[in-house]
Amino acid sequence: MLPFVPEVVIEPAFEAWRDQARSLLTQGISPDAVKIIDTLTQPGLAFTKIEPVEAGRNISVPRDFLERASVVACHRNPERWQLLYRLLWRLQSERNLLKVDIDEDVALFRRLEHQVRRDLHKMHAFLRFRRVNFERDELYVAWYEPDHYILNLAAPFFRERFAVMRWSILTPDASVSWDPDAKRIQFGLGVSREAAPQEDELESVWRTYYGSIFNPARLNTRAMRNEMPVRYWKNLPELNVLPQLLEKAGGRVDAMIGGQGKLSAAAYVPEAHELPVLRESIPQCRGCDLHAGATQAVFGQGPENARLMLIGEQPGDEEDRSGQPFVGPAGRLLNEILRESGIDRQQVYVTNAVKHFKYVQRGKLRLHQSPRMSEIVACRPWLLAELDAIKPELVVCLGASAAKSLLGAQFALMREHGKILSSAYAPQVMATLHPSAILRATEATREEEMRTMMTEDLKAAVAHMQAVKPAIQSPVEHRPTRIFV
Ligand code: URA
Ligand code: SF4
Repeated sequence: MLPFVPEVVIEPAFEAWRDQARSLLTQGISPDAVKIIDTLTQPGLAFTKIEPVEAGRNISVPRDFLERASVVACHRNPERWQLLYRLLWRLQSERNLLKVDIDEDVALFRRLEHQVRRDLHKMHAFLRFRRVNFERDELYVAWYEPDHYILNLAAPFFRERFAVMRWSILTPDASVSWDPDAKRIQFGLGVSREAAPQEDELESVWRTYYGSIFNPARLNTRAMRNEMPVRYWKNLPELNVLPQLLEKAGGRVDAMIGGQGKLSAAAYVPEAHELPVLRESIPQCRGCDLHAGATQAVFGQGPENARLMLIGEQPGDEEDRSGQPFVGPAGRLLNEILRESGIDRQQVYVTNAVKHFKYVQRGKLRLHQSPRMSEIVACRPWLLAELDAIKPELVVCLGASAAKSLLGAQFALMREHGKILSSAYAPQVMATLHPSAILRATEATREEEMRTMMTEDLKAAVAHMQAVKPAIQSPVEHRPTRIFV
């Protein structure tokens, strides 16, 4: 027989879990000894009293974990509360737990987080308001069925985008309303499908709205269909205007790019700077001509909470074929030099200034060509989106192309390498040699010198990060303390 495990009943809200979990933890109650459930799992149960936390009892909760836990808390999986408590418990002794991808709890945590974020992204993109005349007021109402309990996560986005409208979003679980006069957002009860308004006066306005905000550059019907389960299609006015949009898309893409008079990836970069969203969107990029000759775009790789980001120039032949950065000869040398410098590549986010391979064909060979400044600038929006997603403490540019992207076209690598600089795009940037430059060296002594130079620079980067660490460390610091081997 299974041992009896007492149930702890909470309100289905992150804050309720947090308070109860804090209390259980300080009482030393292990996750094997309780089962946390919420009142949605078993309606009618009374909440379990939260024992007050003794003053002075300190528990350490990585801040990153709490932020991500608040996202996971919105998942519909009834086991999430227990999972979160198990992770919180284990984090007390396993500080780096969240980086252990193969751990079952961590893998589930990541999966749930990803699913909630995806659901949120879909809601932002596909929710549709309808106008309802409400006494003398105009009220905009949207009915939407998210997969998860994401209304409170989604509300701020709509408040900002539709700040002057009086609106309500109704879901089967809960509703939220915005009053533009009082500037107040209010949550309420859920609404059944039958009670949701049917009236559809402003269908045409909605079509125009979607027609004008709809970014044809991102128009990829297959991806859209994959992303939108069929049951949502009825909520999609853009499906009605899709044929026209498709027809106009080519011209509008040109106009968008031409209108700026410059090459740029900007029109292709999604608003949500989450790595999975960015990664999914980059294959559609036509920000410059380099996509035409390449096999695929090569996006960055590494943990989302990396403290250090390395930026190369562009994918080479092997990267172009495999879709991963720095896996060819330059990548192998980079791995060696990182190891010598005391840096664990697994903990670093590695990407390139330009995401498509540029080359000239010579017989069977594809010879690398350096990107032009215009291509580096065109591709920069992807790099900035990655920087925004990762928010690394330090960025190291490998070679002149990456350095030019963040530090300007005039940047003098040999004069400025190894220094901690500041850029408009990243607070702390260092530039050093590119491993390919070392591979190209024709004399052994020069090769040795360059390798030493790069290793010294990277060691200085490590020392800098370790030196600033105490200043930014807090009891809830989530960043790995052992990113260096
Ligand atoms: N050189 C780079 O700059 N980046 C890669 O990904 C590979 C080689
Ligand atoms: Fe877009 Fe960059 Fe590729 Fe050019 S190189 S098409 S800007 S991803």
